[in-house]
Amino acid sequence: MPYAKIIGSGGYLPPRVVTNDDLAADLATRQIETSDTWIVERTGIRQRHLADPGVTTSQLATRAAQIALDDAGVAAEDLDLIIVATSTPDFVFPSTACLVQAALGSKGGAAFDVQAVCSGFVYALATADAFIRAGRAKTALVIGAEVFSSILDWNDRGTCVLFGDGAGAVVLKAADEPGIIAAQLNADGSQMKILCAAGNVAHGKVVGDPFLRMDGQAVFKLAVTSLAKSATDVCAEAGIKLEEIDWFVPHQANVRIINFLGRRLGLTDDKVVVTVDQHANTSAASVPLAFDAARRDGRIKQGDLVMMQGVGGGFTWGSVLARM
Ligand code: UT7
Repeated sequence: MPYAKIIGSGGYLPPRVVTNDDLAADLATRQIETSDTWIVERTGIRQRHLADPGVTTSQLATRAAQIALDDAGVAAEDLDLIIVATSTPDFVFPSTACLVQAALGSKGGAAFDVQAVCSGFVYALATADAFIRAGRAKTALVIGAEVFSSILDWNDRGTCVLFGDGAGAVVLKAADEPGIIAAQLNADGSQMKILCAAGNVAHGKVVGDPFLRMDGQAVFKLAVTSLAKSATDVCAEAGIKLEEIDWFVPHQANVRIINFLGRRLGLTDDKVVVTVDQHANTSAASVPLAFDAARRDGRIKQGDLVMMQGVGGGFTWGSVLARM
């Protein structure tokens, strides 16, 4: 049975950087109080990249995908699977993956979106792995991409300061050696209300609430307990000890969650990849963006064992263990 090996990665962030001070000044014009101090102390976020109006998720995804394909030395026409993880698709349909496929000039392979919010990339990666392991695909592109700024209520300081826009991608190829060695995906739909954007388009108008709503403390508690268990379980499944992990690439929502998990799992800070300070929470894009950053600056190297983890709306969570 072939393994799915990560052979390239790419990231793309829209050029507009908004610092906490920029955001605080903007919110102050609407009599909403926040500060760099509050945001940094509670989350570790210092800035975020925001897409300009009219910029779409498929555009960010295509930029990241092209960088990943170039990095892998793979031509777009050789892809037989494209999966895009996103909660902010360009359209109701067709899928963002189909738009990316067309923009890349690829044709004929499978292309579809995965909707698991901030766990989306990990879900998409595990899905592509399953396709390759089953012999249903040989060369796959997996993307996490979001224009999350489009679903934020900019009058809700409890959420609007937390998120950013961006895209990250990896290219996977069938190989004789690992590769992705284990994956676990989980969900608890009974917790759907703690993090949701409970609106849709029907009969020509938006029905329900189109904005992201979050019970931050409930999400925080569930995130740390579910991710700690998921990490232990996925390592047990793979027959790996936690201390064998070279790099931990968790979802980038809050540095307090990341630090708590690192400590709980016995992983020293120098093994934990953190980009939340620079990117804020980019939902499905956060893990591939962090992974790509650590690969490009030389931290993640050939042969390293990497654990990626996602957690978010649904409630969803999951882990993937990959040998580089
Ligand atoms: O991507 C999916 C996963 N998402 C997450 O993992 C997010 C998980 N949750 C969190 O990261 C944290 O719960 C938050 C960062 C969202 C909030 O931190 P917290 O320490 O749980 O703060 P809180 O919600 O308990 O709010 C504390 C205080 C409140 O004021 P009072 O009631 O104590 O007077 C809030 O109104 O901070 C206030 N507050 C703010 N103050 C200044 C909330 N947002 C802001 C703000 N600026 N932006």
